[in-house]
Amino acid sequence: MRHTVDTERFTITAEDGRPVSWFDEEGFSLLSRWWLLASWQRKYSYQFRWLGRPVIQLPADLIMIQDLIHRIRPTVIVETGIAHGGSVVFHASVLVAVHHGGAMPADRPRVIAVDIEIRPHNREALESHPMSAHFTLVEGDSTNESVVDEVRMLLRDDDVVLVILDSGHSRAHVAGELRAYGPLVSPGSAIVAMDGIMPALARLPDGQEEWLEDSPTAAIEEFLSSEAGQAFAIDESYRDYAVTHSPGGVLLRRET
Ligand SMILES: C[S@@+](CC[C@H](N)C(=O)[O-])C[C@H]1O[C@@H](n2cnc3c(N)ncnc32)[C@H](O)[C@@H]1O
Repeated sequence: MRHTVDTERFTITAEDGRPVSWFDEEGFSLLSRWWLLASWQRKYSYQFRWLGRPVIQLPADLIMIQDLIHRIRPTVIVETGIAHGGSVVFHASVLVAVHHGGAMPADRPRVIAVDIEIRPHNREALESHPMSAHFTLVEGDSTNESVVDEVRMLLRDDDVVLVILDSGHSRAHVAGELRAYGPLVSPGSAIVAMDGIMPALARLPDGQEEWLEDSPTAAIEEFLSSEAGQAFAIDESYRDYAVTHSPGGVLLRRET
């Protein structure tokens, strides 16, 4: 597919060859898409830190998650995929800011973060981080039953639970996580499956053809058409952010 950009008329051609303005919804979304592909190939999202820890996210996605935390005001965030821990520290710091001054038990708000491998230098840096009182690290495969049980045991009946999935990104793994962690999400809260952009990256030099079918997006579709998924619906409120790795990734749990 070819899109021609005209820098004098400020247009880009759509799939069917029509020139569309950079400044309307369709044109802006096409331009954002090409920027996203170039930035992924260049590993743009690998350069950022949050309070000293590397965080592998687009800044716009961090703003989106911050807004979701502010809207939902969870007492606990369950996160899969720690890497260097920047997102753990990010979620903990936003939680603390959102609940500042509120009457909370000492062990709340808290992030429960799971990774199949927490490297010793990352664990050490996280355990000595100023936010460390606000997170618990769990090591193991996020879809392993004993790991899910361990997470469940750390929750209290009155917790408001938000779940963010950013570990393995295959369809099977994310579908397994949605099945395992979906029931932990509180009514009115959400489960976020990150990196649904993968099919759009499949044909880049570092992409993989399988991602056209094998991605978090495919897992979301599978989950939403299952019985457990009927309690959830895609939250459309971040569609205009345009520059995101997780389009359609926020699944809101209905109130009842
Ligand atoms: C994309 S990185 C996480 C990035 C992190 N959330 C951030 O924003 O900086 C993915 C992480 O998932 C972990 N991972 C991969 N497969 C996993 C699995 N089956 N269970 C748990 N963690 C897994 C990897 O070890 C890696 O640290």
